[in-house]
Amino acid sequence: MRKHLFPLLVLFLFFNCKETVKKTKATINNRGLITDKALVVSAREEASKIGVEIMKQGGNAFDAMMATEMALAVAYPYAGNLGGGGFLVYRLADGEVGALDYREKAPLEASKYMYLDEDGNVIKGKSTIGPLAIGIPGTIAGVFKAHEKFGKLDVKTILQPVIDLANNGFVVTEKQARRFRAYDSIFKVVNGKKIVFNENLKKGDKVFNFALAETLERIANNGRDEFYIGETAKRLVKFLQKKGSIITLEDLTKYESIWRKPIQFYYDNLTITSMSPPSSGGICLNQIMTMIEDFDLKGYGHNSLKTIQVLVEAEKRAYADRSYYLGDPDFIAIPTETLTSSVYLNNRMKDFSFKEATPVDSISHGRILGYESEETTHYSIVDQFGNAIAVTTTLNGGYGSKVFVDDLGFFLNNEMDDFSSKPGKPNYYGLIGAEANSIVPEKRMLSSMTPTIVEKDGELFMTVGTPGGSTIITSVLQAILNVHEFEMTMQEAVNAPRFHNQWLPDEIRMEPNSFDRNTIKQLEAKGYIINESRSPIIGIIDGILVLDNGKLEGGADKRGDDTAAGF
Ligand code: DON
Repeated sequence: MRKHLFPLLVLFLFFNCKETVKKTKATINNRGLITDKALVVSAREEASKIGVEIMKQGGNAFDAMMATEMALAVAYPYAGNLGGGGFLVYRLADGEVGALDYREKAPLEASKYMYLDEDGNVIKGKSTIGPLAIGIPGTIAGVFKAHEKFGKLDVKTILQPVIDLANNGFVVTEKQARRFRAYDSIFKVVNGKKIVFNENLKKGDKVFNFALAETLERIANNGRDEFYIGETAKRLVKFLQKKGSIITLEDLTKYESIWRKPIQFYYDNLTITSMSPPSSGGICLNQIMTMIEDFDLKGYGHNSLKTIQVLVEAEKRAYADRSYYLGDPDFIAIPTETLTSSVYLNNRMKDFSFKEATPVDSISHGRILGYESEETTHYSIVDQFGNAIAVTTTLNGGYGSKVFVDDLGFFLNNEMDDFSSKPGKPNYYGLIGAEANSIVPEKRMLSSMTPTIVEKDGELFMTVGTPGGSTIITSVLQAILNVHEFEMTMQEAVNAPRFHNQWLPDEIRMEPNSFDRNTIKQLEAKGYIINESRSPIIGIIDGILVLDNGKLEGGADKRGDDTAAGF
């Protein structure tokens, strides 16, 4: 945030005063749920409430993580999962920060060109639908590892309300009913029969998932290994092999979640902690925020021409680097220090001008980074002890590979599509990646998930994250800026209209009918291409803000069924 005072600033502020007045009023009215001590914000009311119930029993944020994540697997099968993976970023009450990577891995029998035909062309759908799209799930390993290190309550106590939810049924929302209808035919094709989630379900109906209840019961009794070497593992592998999957028991046995050093950087008086590789989230967020720090965004105004330009140009440059340099750090060397150094980043922005868009082909590493899908989920938790977590978890696409293990009650991911199927060539989603993200057995595919915790003047300030594939990073960015620069409440910050640029394709994606027409015209005049039709929504952010009086405000994005709960 540049503090240069231009004489024109006064004039500028005068023209913007209408917005300022409106914002002040909204600030009073538009707070999300406020609680004194503890809060969970997630994609489903049931999951938030179960997380809170666990904390009320004396559990902490890590106990609530296991409960919330598993409750999402029951009530939000679109993205909540046992068959997927995710990332946790935490900040303990004493200020210690850390990160856990429970991302899926490529199976031992995976190979670089497994999604190509004899002519070297990508076979449509092979990395996204069905048994070959599945990476080795990491979720159970992740929630257990976090719990083992930090949890207070025993696993049985934590999982009981989740098992009850699966047995007693969750209530279908309008959005869910719509999705079950939309996906019904593909579920039938992939699974060869109707599954428990189907077109007959209407808003208000209850879904019972007894198979999942039994799976969770076994996990509660036998622990993490139940999923990776126990009966559940054996049944899962038997099922998968019958379906033609290459996943073996050895794949499951070898899976480990990994503690990582998170990415940490500064912006004004904020300290931002976010996910390190194999997610691109932390590095890209660091790059973008460092590139924009010297600009007077607050003076320019929220979603104003200049703010959009600065963000878009910084995003372009960060995403160009993402596509070339980033992948699984256990397999490739990532020049993190250089990529995030202010010397390098200031140099990257040197050719930026407010006069016109920087042409994308003048930015290095001309590799296109296309679209990822929109179906992950994020939850934020702050507990009564002052610990905070940000967790983003996914099956990748909606319901992942669409492969549903009816015997065990859960979907399996299609995370293999986050690899670059053929370096330099677009995959099913239009993604083009580099060698850094090519398929290798046991490698983790590059992610955009950006669970993030923000401190202000050294104190916990915010925990935030979102689904949205490649738009995750820019959505998290906007949520932080909305609060810090544009003085929004947490609820306003998550609800505010969002835009996105990822270098290539050469366009600014905007949520439709949410931006000032004149601003759009001015951007177009400067050479920017605006696309309002690609994404009806960009991200579904769930965040928690610590208010000046120490209370917590939950921001549950209006774009989903997201709900805050706490005490
Ligand atoms: O890890 C990633 O970046 C993607 N698999 C996330 C997918 C996603 O966010 C889809 N949801 N909205």
